[in-house]
Amino acid sequence: MRQKTSERLAAAARPVSNLASGWYVALPSAELRGRPRKATLFGRGHVVWRGADGRAHVQGAACPHAGAALYGGKVVDGTLECPFHRWRFDGSGTCVSVPGRVPPRRAAVATLPTRESSGFVWVWYGKGAPRYEPPDLPGLRARRLPSTRNFRLADPTRATTRRILENTYDPDHLVALHGLTVTGDARITFPPADGLPEERCDATLTWPSYRGPLGAVSNVFGLNADEFTLRLRGWASCQEIEYYADGRRLYRMVLAVTPIGEHHSVQHISAAVDADGAGVMGRLRSLVHRAEVQVAARQDLPVFDTLLPGDRHGIYVPGDEAVRRFRRFYQQWVELAQRG
Ligand code: FES
Ligand SMILES: [Fe+2]
Repeated sequence: MRQKTSERLAAAARPVSNLASGWYVALPSAELRGRPRKATLFGRGHVVWRGADGRAHVQGAACPHAGAALYGGKVVDGTLECPFHRWRFDGSGTCVSVPGRVPPRRAAVATLPTRESSGFVWVWYGKGAPRYEPPDLPGLRARRLPSTRNFRLADPTRATTRRILENTYDPDHLVALHGLTVTGDARITFPPADGLPEERCDATLTWPSYRGPLGAVSNVFGLNADEFTLRLRGWASCQEIEYYADGRRLYRMVLAVTPIGEHHSVQHISAAVDADGAGVMGRLRSLVHRAEVQVAARQDLPVFDTLLPGDRHGIYVPGDEAVRRFRRFYQQWVELAQRG
């Protein structure tokens, strides 16, 4: 059902107009095995495939010969073979073989900088070389830590990347929309700008008196606390988020986006519950946190889908301080996408 919705969104995708330079999710790593995969990214068709060395590649879908879709082809001897006349392309996009002929010198497919970490295949959007590396949480790598429990979510939405990401900087909606059981307003703090890399917009949100995701039930799991903290390491295209109760980390996650096209995105969450993750209690806590994140996504997405187009925002109040900060940061990286 979810897959069908993404496909519908992909079919209607238009090129993105206000996207920040940065790392975006082409596919979850687990979905890329032997066959090349189609991915609509930034409003255009792409092919994602794995070479003989296991490395992932993301390239424009159109074959430079006669325009056949390369995702209809197959991987042969570590190259991507077009289904139409069997021209083959390597991971750098160069045409390395044409049946019975010498490959034309200028035959190549557009190739995007690609990485694989935290369980995702990432592609770099924007002019020029990548300016930093995508997030790489140890608990989310292919070889998971034995003490962690992991879960993943992927939800299609009409929201733009900026809307999806700024949601984490918005403490008031956590209480108003998600019913976060805290008392009082969040304290929002930002790290000193001189200690932070230029590609990051970090924030910490702290609330007094947290009663866990499920109130009384949370008490049984030891999730209630005098202080609840959300620590956010934010880039313009993705985030690492850690949740703490009384200084004890509950779980951490990567929030990332596939921008299929203008107002067509997939919100990806990859999470690791790392406190007491090995035992039965760890399993139960993982289920509680998964339910918590799933319910939050169910609450966010219907609202996201109704937001006015154009990333508009009306009246700002003090609780929007971090959202405003992120918006300014994000727009700098939108400019970088065009300038490189
Ligand atoms: S269209 Fe791809 S090889 Fe001819
Ligand atoms: Fe939310």
